[in-house]
Amino acid sequence: MKQDKRQAKLDSIASVIANRAIDIELAKSCLNPVPGEGSASAELMIIGEAPGAKEDQLGRPFVGASGKFLDAMLASIGLERQDVFITNIVKFRPPKNRDPSAAEIKACMHILYQEIDALRPKLIVFLGRHAANVFFPNLTIGEAHGEPLMQVIELGPKVRVKQTFLPLYHPAAALYNGSMRKTLFDDFAKIPQILAIINKVKL
Ligand code: URA
Repeated sequence: MKQDKRQAKLDSIASVIANRAIDIELAKSCLNPVPGEGSASAELMIIGEAPGAKEDQLGRPFVGASGKFLDAMLASIGLERQDVFITNIVKFRPPKNRDPSAAEIKACMHILYQEIDALRPKLIVFLGRHAANVFFPNLTIGEAHGEPLMQVIELGPKVRVKQTFLPLYHPAAALYNGSMRKTLFDDFAKIPQILAIINKVKL
């Protein structure tokens, strides 16, 4: 798909989110919906759990303390936010930062699939177990972090793609924990090599 077409698709998905056109209470109760953002030609898609207070205020994903940490990890592999696409499973802040419910996740999944379909990323990075468990329900992040996984996902009727994923700890878990910080940076450092392998296999 051409980049203009991808951008148009992503823009139209973002406007559905901005218009709160998803039938859950969170879509009404949040201050600002938080659509995914980034490059329409990104090879790397990063998926978090749900917006926090700062994201809710600004209507943008990962702009609080976890976002600063994410920016630092991206910089450590020579990337900036505008080189990747950053989104969340749930696009509206759950009150008091509670975990999103199974019903809220389910109600937002078609939007996430549309984002994946528009972007067709080479690699999807999950930040935290909540994001990872949506696709891999039995995964334990302590065991699975930093190791790529593959799964066929169904993005729509008759649209099945083989997708590579990389589960990582959530940056919030590592903010005040030095050894987990190091683990996250070490896991992040594997991304360029994983992308290089994916690109080589697909040549
Ligand atoms: N944590 C998330 O999972 N997503 C955000 O956008 C911010 C913090």
